[in-house]
Amino acid sequence: AGPVRACRASLASSYTQTSETVDLDWENLGFGIVQTDYMYIAKCGTDGNFSEGEMVPFGPIALSPSSGVLNYGQGLFEALKAYRKTDGSILLFRPEENAQRMQTGAERMCMPAPSVEQFIDAVKQIVLANKRWIPPTGKGSLYIRPLLMGSGTVLGLAPAPEYTFIIFVSPVGNYFKEGLAPINLIVEDKFHRATPGGTGGVKTIGNYASVLMAQKIAKEKGYSDVLYLDAVHKKYLEEVSSCNIFVVKGNVISTPAVKGTILPGITRKSIIDVALSKGFQVEERLVSVDELLDADEVFCTGTAVVVSPVGSITYQGKR
Ligand code: COI
Repeated sequence: AGPVRACRASLASSYTQTSETVDLDWENLGFGIVQTDYMYIAKCGTDGNFSEGEMVPFGPIALSPSSGVLNYGQGLFEALKAYRKTDGSILLFRPEENAQRMQTGAERMCMPAPSVEQFIDAVKQIVLANKRWIPPTGKGSLYIRPLLMGSGTVLGLAPAPEYTFIIFVSPVGNYFKEGLAPINLIVEDKFHRATPGGTGGVKTIGNYASVLMAQKIAKEKGYSDVLYLDAVHKKYLEEVSSCNIFVVKGNVISTPAVKGTILPGITRKSIIDVALSKGFQVEERLVSVDELLDADEVFCTGTAVVVSPVGSITYQGKR
């Protein structure tokens, strides 16, 4: 309701459920893959139209070694969640936003994308097919991972001639090992996540491979994650490897503006709506790293991280 719109999955399920929920250790879910019953798969050839998708058992897929995604990284992913309510109904968080963001990303990556209707319909089908894996209310959510990839074969650099749209799901709990406790970030001053004109503003798979090195080093030093600065001035906040960032000072909540180098997060957008509706002033602008020294609070937002409070930020050796 209100600015955080929810969409109720309404498709009748054609899958027989053996029990209401599976027997998992719901208290200790964390954020790792738990294999569920089904995945959704649809294909698209050179005509740009996706086949009617089908639900198949979760498992490996066959890909040519010369597929576009394996050789040239022509791939995108999305992320959203389904929640079980106490009355037994299932809620999806803003799936139409993910469908639209996949379309924007697909255009940037020269790929055809499923229509908004097909995307949402596929999400509903996959959630209902794997309903018994949705955590009980308050114990977590069903993480939904739509993937779009150039599965056709290429050798010279070119868009692939065939695309595959897959959705798999996994029950998840908290993303960070800290749980809901504040996380500790380190500002990265050597590696950058994105450059103007690049693909930082879309959810292409390569954006995530390129942050692994900085994240690995940060984790070895005991930090939860890395906060990136812009690649040009090396002083404005961009985003954390897996989420957007907000800085609170009094009644003003500031967050880096979406200008092509940060991901236009759907949780980010919802938080802006909620903050405005609660009387906060929200500024989407260049936010200098120096402003962190002065902040009352800092928090991160994302599908996986939800809203994570930041306990400390280390920059150039100062905490
Ligand atoms: C998400 O928030 O779900 C993401 O896509 C980030 C991912 C690295 C876990």
